[in-house]
Amino acid sequence: MLEEQKVLKFPDGFLWGVSTSSYQIEGGITNDWSQWEMSEKRLKELRDKKLNYRDFVAGRACDSYNKYKEDAEMVKALNCGGYRLGLEWARIEPKEGEFNYEEIEHYRRVLENLREKNIKVVLTLWHWTNPLWLVNEGGWANKKVVDYFSRYVEFVVTQLGDLVDFWVTINEPTVHVFNGYFRGTFPPNKKNIFLGAKAFLNLLAAHKKAYDIIHRYNLRANVGFTHLGDNFQPARPWFLPEIMLAWFFNFFCNNLFLRLVHGHTDYIGLDYYFHNRVVWHPPFLKNLNKDVTDFGWEIYPEGIYNILKDLRRFKKPIYIMENGIADAADAKRGKFIIDHLRYVHEAIEEGEDIRGYFHWSLLDNFEWAAGWTMKFGLYSLNRETCERKARPSAAVYAEICQTNQLKIMPT
Ligand code: FCB
Repeated sequence: MLEEQKVLKFPDGFLWGVSTSSYQIEGGITNDWSQWEMSEKRLKELRDKKLNYRDFVAGRACDSYNKYKEDAEMVKALNCGGYRLGLEWARIEPKEGEFNYEEIEHYRRVLENLREKNIKVVLTLWHWTNPLWLVNEGGWANKKVVDYFSRYVEFVVTQLGDLVDFWVTINEPTVHVFNGYFRGTFPPNKKNIFLGAKAFLNLLAAHKKAYDIIHRYNLRANVGFTHLGDNFQPARPWFLPEIMLAWFFNFFCNNLFLRLVHGHTDYIGLDYYFHNRVVWHPPFLKNLNKDVTDFGWEIYPEGIYNILKDLRRFKKPIYIMENGIADAADAKRGKFIIDHLRYVHEAIEEGEDIRGYFHWSLLDNFEWAAGWTMKFGLYSLNRETCERKARPSAAVYAEICQTNQLKIMPT
């Protein structure tokens, strides 16, 4: 007998969106990342790997600084009700304590344009990049950063607060600490646990202060941060050492920061990309990788469900602020979206308070240490002309956003 097509409806008012960040799309920014991209050390590393440095500098990026109207049109064409974008601290405060009002005017135009189009603004205040003056003061490992960040946040709230629907104070703090201070793959490229611990605590304090500042100006503001939720699972669910190790990873990577911010977040912004199968011996993480993205990341839709269930303990509304796939050929993206959303829907059906889903990303952009090699966009980008073009999966997502439902075809 033929199985019937299933329709999975999402709750009324569920917020569909797409995510980007300032450095990855705007172009023309001078900060710690642009400095690192051109450093002798980085250039040598790329030469040694026989890689073309042009593929690893953000440079003009997607030129979204100038093409922001086109980007907003694309958000609209996807039938999204929300757009997550970022501010660049280095633009707004190029010198310590000196704010650039022209740049604020620019960002006002960007946000007003979204408002005119009836798109809800999810604004990220810090997405991993720092002004150079802050780097010279020791970046996030210096305690002073908490006051610096607070001053920047207060300035932004007074200038742009009327145009913001959701605030993301800090993007994935644990990733900045892990990649910046333990693995050394992101600026400040250190391998220093001590500095990493300091940065962790400063990010935590900065988030809490930002939360209070924004609420001082607007009691009803919606303030949170985005958190990379990795799904750790013991390879053998009956084997105690692996159960304990998975618990340990889950505690430190997923729950610790969330526990510590408790009371200072109105929602949880979940970014989901990774499933990690935990084994008791080095290298401790060993995935089966039956299906992977261009990045080599395992595709594991069930993981989003596991994390959503785990986040229940925090009793906060959840917005999925990032979930996406590096897939230049666009061969897997449509299915990836549907498979993940099936699990999101299942969690909602079971009573989890999930209020939105933002796909990463609107368009191909500068993927940090992987540069331009990884393509996460629903729209592709021609790097010569900056022309954007919808990939076939954009139509899949646009239909979901428009109908607020998923159609599951019989297999
Ligand atoms: C997330 C980052 C985002 C993007 C995706 C692929 O961890 O927040 O900027 O790079 O990964």
